[in-house]
Amino acid sequence: MAANSGVFEPRNILVTGGCGFIGANFVRYVARNHPDVHVTVLDKLTYAGNPENIAGLPESRVELVVGDICDAALLERVVPGHDAIVHFAAESHNDNSIADPEPFIRTNVEGTMRLLEAARKYDVRFHHISTDEVYGDLALDDPARFSECSPYRPSSPYSASKAASDHLVRAWVRTYGLRATISNCSNNYGPYQHVEKFIPRQITSILEGIRPKLYGTGENVRDWIHTEDHSSAVWEILTRGRIGETYLIGANGEMSNIAVLRMILRLMGQPEDAFDWTRDRPGHDRRYAIDASKLHAELGWKPMHTNFESGLRATIDWYTNHREWWVASKAATEARYRAQGM
Ligand code: NAD
Ligand code: DAU
Repeated sequence: MAANSGVFEPRNILVTGGCGFIGANFVRYVARNHPDVHVTVLDKLTYAGNPENIAGLPESRVELVVGDICDAALLERVVPGHDAIVHFAAESHNDNSIADPEPFIRTNVEGTMRLLEAARKYDVRFHHISTDEVYGDLALDDPARFSECSPYRPSSPYSASKAASDHLVRAWVRTYGLRATISNCSNNYGPYQHVEKFIPRQITSILEGIRPKLYGTGENVRDWIHTEDHSSAVWEILTRGRIGETYLIGANGEMSNIAVLRMILRLMGQPEDAFDWTRDRPGHDRRYAIDASKLHAELGWKPMHTNFESGLRATIDWYTNHREWWVASKAATEARYRAQGM
């Protein structure tokens, strides 16, 4: 792992999956904070991708190419000329991966390999966005948190596909000398998150008069971080991180699902027991918790959104005020969940 003491100053970055939740928030973050940087978004616009997520950004600085990261011929045309790739594109939802793993292997594993090959050929700096789920789960009463040294122990087809993609990035660094970094982040929340995910599903259900659904016992713990804090951490790692290194991103946001749901119900003026229990997710990870001290110590990064309740209130306001953004996908998503008994 070579030390990289200088600051990398990208001018023309390719953001895969930039029409999805976290990718779009990252594109918006870059457009807001780094006006000298041009962004090309490469996105297949699956059910989870929406060009509206990056609408309104200056066309001179943000360009959308619609296409598949598995398409090697397309990558030959799109990658040259960029000085960095920030790779968000993925199939991202655990429940979908349990119902049908195949698209997860294709996009998350094969797609990452295609991008790595293009980055190698054109000597492009690569930052890989990954998840804390590659480390499996922790017991509810375990004082430990995940660190960069935790063993890989993924539980679901989704997390196994992300673990595979992390290993590919490491292999390309070691074998081919690719200039790459990896970040593994905990659960994000904020605007533009697809309504299949826990927090937006519950908020939009309440807005639609549907009772929220809680899986299993509701005791499972997730470590919440606002997506804007994820963006700032990725920017720091891209520009100042050491090549070949992995950084965990988290903001000390551990909460049980039932506590988050009760907070949403309270903030939306509902009784705290106005929800239904459903069957549990197979293989449901119990708890995620991130120790982000390497990121703090090496790069001085700190989260800005440290008050979860106020971040949640702003997120509720965003969904309340952007009904047209989610109403069609809400109907399709709930039909899919109903078919799965969830
Ligand atoms: P998302 O599902 O909201 O967005 C994924 C985007 O990728 C969509 O725009 C989709 O159209 C695009 N995409 C999918 N397949 C593609 C393909 N073959 N070619 C090109 N584009 C394709 O996902 P998200 O929640 O924004 O997650 C983004 C990344 O962050 C993923 O890599 C995920 O593993 C990782 N991550 C997510 C979280 C979280 O809490 N959501 C936490 C840690 C890491
Ligand atoms: O930890 C990072 C991961 O966080 C990312 O890698 C994934 O892309 C992202 O989807 C997220 O995975 P989770 O499985 O933790 O997120 P999800 O929103 O699907 O569920 C959060 C928790 O809420 C989980 O314990 C399952 C539970 N849940 C979910 C839904 C949709 C419910 O109880 N009810 C629900 O309706």
